[in-house]
Amino acid sequence: MKKWFAVLAVVVLALVISGVAMAQDAPSGELEIFSWWTGGGEAAGLDALIAKFAELYPDVSVVNAAVAGGSGVNARAVLTTRMLGGDPPDTFQVHAGEELNAVWVAAHAVEPLNSIYEANGWMEQFPQGLLDLLTDAEGNIYAVPVNIHRSNVMWYIPANLEQWGVTVPTSWDEFVNETCPALQAAGVTPLAVGENWTQVHLWESVALGVLGTDAYNGLWNGTTSWTSPEVQGVFDTFLKVIACTNDDRNALPWQDASKMVTDGTAAFNIMGDWAAGYFLVDLALEPGTGFAWAPSPGTEGNFMMLSDSFALPVGAPNPAAANAWLSFVGTGEAQDLFNPVKGSLPANTTADIGNSELYNAYFQSAYEDWTSNAIVGSLAHGLVAPPAFSNSFGPALASLIDSGDIPSTTASLAQLAIQTGMND
Ligand code: GAL
Repeated sequence: MKKWFAVLAVVVLALVISGVAMAQDAPSGELEIFSWWTGGGEAAGLDALIAKFAELYPDVSVVNAAVAGGSGVNARAVLTTRMLGGDPPDTFQVHAGEELNAVWVAAHAVEPLNSIYEANGWMEQFPQGLLDLLTDAEGNIYAVPVNIHRSNVMWYIPANLEQWGVTVPTSWDEFVNETCPALQAAGVTPLAVGENWTQVHLWESVALGVLGTDAYNGLWNGTTSWTSPEVQGVFDTFLKVIACTNDDRNALPWQDASKMVTDGTAAFNIMGDWAAGYFLVDLALEPGTGFAWAPSPGTEGNFMMLSDSFALPVGAPNPAAANAWLSFVGTGEAQDLFNPVKGSLPANTTADIGNSELYNAYFQSAYEDWTSNAIVGSLAHGLVAPPAFSNSFGPALASLIDSGDIPSTTASLAQLAIQTGMND
């Protein structure tokens, strides 16, 4: 009797264990995915991921909890409230670098994902420089990147430039002194820009173009002083560039600013290459003719990067489904579904970037630069500075545009850099 009981106990235990394993293999329930991809190529990319995931995990029902607002300005505020309130989603979009590390990792609010990386062989599949942006001093990796975006891109339409008699400027001095007046004389807005965060986005291209690679990097490691004459020069050029932009800038989302170029009311726009996703998916334009691109003035040879990734919050309601999502989005296969419509390069090096049917001429040129240029990081998209700094940078830029007071702007940014630990 005792023996039978023991056998039965072993059988029951085996069934329970295999049941648990099965439950892990086949997650079920709701999976809430938090991002800021609500329209156009961005939403198309996310939808493509969700559709394939639903095929692979039919028992999981995805709740797409995207919050509208370019560059996550609104989404990040909602996410913070939810995380502080003990109501995390199952997974959330976050930029690689300081946006991840200085907030969520520092607060111990996200789980390490090393086991997912190891199970999938990803330590060898993602660029080391990118892994470094997601990893703490102990070697814990906290997010799965889905792409590499480029910030320093200038968009234009070749036929329009020809008609207006201008060429793509290769320095900010050329833009301010030659290109801008020529276009203004022709009744065209020289450079389209949108709401505050897109002005920060423009600023980082001006800063890189004026300072060059090393001094630009120095802003984030404390070796370039915010009050130096060089940095004062960046803000001086920035104000001259702003004088070449549309007056209604504060009212425009990034898509509308990019559209001024394709509508022919503006000659240029500087925006990350999600604009390529917008031109390709929303506007169905041909790369090379319907829209064209160049490094923003003075930044040739530099690829200013940012990367969207997904993290697993501590206390996620459905960690099994979140693990399945994270294990999926990091694969080359998932990244080939996402990036050709998103406008970005795949982060996983096993993706099919060499396939020019999948990745058109824009991606081929971005990939060539990604693999040969100096790589620097974006301020506007969370890579180089902690949010405590970058969240205050937009308002500082807005005041500068109103007041024109460069010395007081740089003095307060210098102080902010110290207060937020950027110079440590
Ligand atoms: C960036 C993000 C991109 C794109 C862009 C515009 O911050 O990394 O994926 O969403 O904002 O919304």
